[in-house]
Amino acid sequence: MKILVINGPNLNLLGDRENDIYGNFTLDDINLDLKNKADTLNCDIEFFQSNIEGEMVDKIQKAKNEFDGIILNPAAYTHTSVAIRDAISAVKLPVIEVHLSNIYAREDFRHHSYSAPVCKGQICGFGKMGYFLALEALVELLK
Ligand code: DQA
Repeated sequence: MKILVINGPNLNLLGDRENDIYGNFTLDDINLDLKNKADTLNCDIEFFQSNIEGEMVDKIQKAKNEFDGIILNPAAYTHTSVAIRDAISAVKLPVIEVHLSNIYAREDFRHHSYSAPVCKGQICGFGKMGYFLALEALVELLK
């Protein structure tokens, strides 16, 4: 089983960015913990972060033949990107959308996700634990 984790814009700044909302850990911290968890679940995991919408679309498209499922935090593109939504629909891989913060408890413009309706599900508000829950859910779904 091969899982791809995609993180969108500004998530490379975790640890240094609005710590009260996103926590003190870095993206590398999350990825290291995810790698350890993936090992215990016997699956391969790969990580990708980009601040560029088109690069995220490219990565989702290429995942079709390389991965069994995707964990995706589209970050701000959640609320704007029809292109990322269409890429998810096109590849027909199970995708779980993750947000560190509870987007429904924040500004109105964060309440709408273009991508969530074409994902298997969405996990938000649990901080970095959301990524681990998503990994467990994907592994169960793919069994
Ligand atoms: C986020 C929530 C988004 O609204 C925001 O633009 C982000 C991070 C989260 O993980 O909570 O960059 O996706």
